[in-house]
Parts: sequence; structure tokens; C-alpha cells
Amino acid sequence: MPGTWAVIVAAGRGSRLGTEVPKQYLCLGKHSILTHTLRKFSQHPNIDGILVVIHPDDNQLFLDGCPDYTDKVLVEHGGDTRQVSVRNGLQALEDYTPKCVLIHDAARPFVTDEVISKLISVAQDGKAAIAASPVVDSLKYASDSTSDALIKKSIERTGLWHAQTPQAFPYDMILKAHLLVSDQENYTDDAAVAEAYGKDITLVQSDRNNIKITTTEDLNLAEIMMLTSVNNRTIMESRTGLGYDVHCFEDGDHVTLCGINIPHTRKLKGHSDADVGLHALTDAILGALCEGDIGTHFPPSEPQWKGAVSDQFLIFARDRVTKRGGKIIHVDVTLVCEMPKIGPHRDEMVTRMAEILDISPSRVSIKATTSERLGFTGREEGIAAQAVATIQIPTED
Ligand code: CTP
Ligand code: MG
Repeated sequence: MPGTWAVIVAAGRGSRLGTEVPKQYLCLGKHSILTHTLRKFSQHPNIDGILVVIHPDDNQLFLDGCPDYTDKVLVEHGGDTRQVSVRNGLQALEDYTPKCVLIHDAARPFVTDEVISKLISVAQDGKAAIAASPVVDSLKYASDSTSDALIKKSIERTGLWHAQTPQAFPYDMILKAHLLVSDQENYTDDAAVAEAYGKDITLVQSDRNNIKITTTEDLNLAEIMMLTSVNNRTIMESRTGLGYDVHCFEDGDHVTLCGINIPHTRKLKGHSDADVGLHALTDAILGALCEGDIGTHFPPSEPQWKGAVSDQFLIFARDRVTKRGGKIIHVDVTLVCEMPKIGPHRDEMVTRMAEILDISPSRVSIKATTSERLGFTGREEGIAAQAVATIQIPTED
């Protein structure tokens, strides 16, 4: 099939990472690194075919590690160096007469669609282009690469770039270049091969997240990126919910507020324990989830909630967040009342709410205000509470 092909080189041994299984077959989240990389190219609308270069010892690892792709890609065996692996891959495509090829490291699963698209359009015009990112750190030249080496001089970084992959070329050109250069040169990327062949190569700016997983540090970073980045199907988003509740006073000797009992000359009237703070907060969390309100889940008409301890409403909302793969980041409750005074009880309330929510007290805020003797709270007819909850949950659309 003519058109644009991707050659994914995956025949390395990953010696710098040093894991038992070569790095491209390690799992990041649910899939192998190679699977993540292959997905990027197979989902791209302008890629017409994919060839993967694997190590001759890795046939089974490939079948087990990339089950979704075994019958969707061509497979070729690589050689002792990356340069040889790329050459093998390019030669294996001769019968398919590609117009251009994007050569890419299996160990870079974070390549973006935008960069692939830009590279394809340059290569379709008969030119060579590589993904790269401008150097941002200050650069030093030193006597060697050990940690206490002495600086010999500082290097001006303007015009310096980190070369990444994909690297895109007209197929015939890069194949010829690879066939001409000697194996002894051991070029670490294909731009260097094309350069040796006298070709101009354009830089296409790519983001720095397009890391090559090389060391344990990179692997740890990649794990975090997979959890949080746009490259994972589980993109987390922040949401905020607002809750409000009011209960009036009736005869009694204590109020239940934010999960604790406080002696008072009256009590709050309600079907449950009338914990206005926990009710507002439960609604805030349900609001962030877009899952109705406390009354939807615990209708006051149902006798089982009579006198209920409000902890269970909040636990229900907390568990809904967990079931949807999310977590509670922060909650903030404001109690509006003249009496009882909240200050002396604040710490105990924070501790109790953090306990119910199963989060650190540093994520729980409780505030109180009077309403300057105005309105129903000012006349001490009841207590109002407002709450805001911030949660993180996986994006669903
Ligand atoms: N590669 C390859 N054939 C080789 C060497 C490398 O196909 N003989 C591939 C790797 O699988 C990787 C990419 O080229 O996807 C970039 O190489 P590198 O990051 O150096 O990977 P490894 O060679 O596997 O790692 P190391 O150098 O630490 O052994
Ligand atoms: Mg290598």
C-alpha cells in the first residue's frame, strides 16, 4: 500500500533501564508501552500502514504484549543497533512502495496526534522533518559525564534542540541514505543518517512530554504522566459542587453540627439528626458528581431515615466519588448562626469530617459567621450552612 507508513523500532534491549523484560513490553497502566505507541499511530487517520521492528528473541513477548496489534501490523526483526533495526524495517517495506515514512521509537508513547500530523504534511511535500523540542536548561560542557565532573565552559543554548521521534522522510530518500551509511557510524537517529546523506531537515516543535523512556526516572515519570496526562484514556478533571441547607430550632439540649454534638439550649428540627453542615456538604459532593441531592437518595418520606445519623449520607456521597474512580480534594463548610459559638468546636469538627470523608484534615475547612442578627439566623430561629466540595473524577466524554 503506497502512502504514509510508520516504522516503530522496538528491537532494543533497554539495558539502561535494566528490567528483566525489555522496556517496550513493560506495562504503563493497562497496556504495554509498545501498545500505547502503536495505538497513537493506528488511530491516526493519515497513517496507512505500520511496521514494527522487534528483536528476534521477542516474538512471544510481542504476541503477549500487543495482542490488539498482532494482526494489524507488519513485523520485521531488528539488529544489534538502532540504525540496523531501522534499515531492516525500511527494507522490509520496499514491496509496499510507501511515499513517506515516520520512524519512531517504541519507547516514546507520549507522541501527540498534532506532531504526527505536522510531520506527515512536511514529508508529503517531499521534505524531511523531525519532532524536536528547544533546549530550555542552561548548558555546561564538562570534563566527563560523572556527577562531580568540572565545568569546562558554558554553552549558548540558542538554536539548540533535543531531537525526538517521529522523524519523517520521503521513503526512497531515507532508504537510500540508510543503505549508504556505514554500520560503523552507529547513528542514534535517522536525521543524522539523512544529514550524512546531505539532506536538509526541518524541525517540528514537539512538547517535552514526548519523552523516551530510557531510565528508571523516565519510567516513574511516565507512570505519573499516564495517570494524569491527556495521553491516557483516564483524563482526570476537577469539579466543584455547592450545597446549602437550613434547619430550624425546636426544644432540646444539643445540636449536631458537622458530625459532633454540641450542648445548646435548643436542638435542630429534622427528620434525621438535622446536621445542617453535613447535609450541605453531602449536597455539594452530589452536586460535583451531578447526581441529584440528598433528598433524591434519602427521601424524608421514608421512615428508615427518621433520626438517622447524617454521617451515612456523607459516607454515601464519598463512596459515590470513589466508585466513579475519583477523589475528594477539598471541602469548605460555612455555618451561619448566632449561637452556639462554633470556634471552640471547630478542630473537633474538622477531625470528624476528615474521618468520615477519609481524607486528611488539611483538606477540610469549617468556617462560621453570624448574620448580624438579621433574618431567621439572626433571630436564632435556625441554622443555615453552605458548603463547597472540589473533587477529581475521570472524564467521561
Ligand atoms: N532499538 C531497536 N534496535 C536496537 C536498539 C534500539 O529497535 N538495536 C529501538 C528501541 O527499542 C527503542 C528505540 O530504538 O524503542 C530507542 O532506543 P533506546 O532508547 O536506546 O532503547 P534501547 O536500546 O532498548 O535501550 P538501551 O540503549 O538503554 O539499551
Ligand atoms: Mg539503545
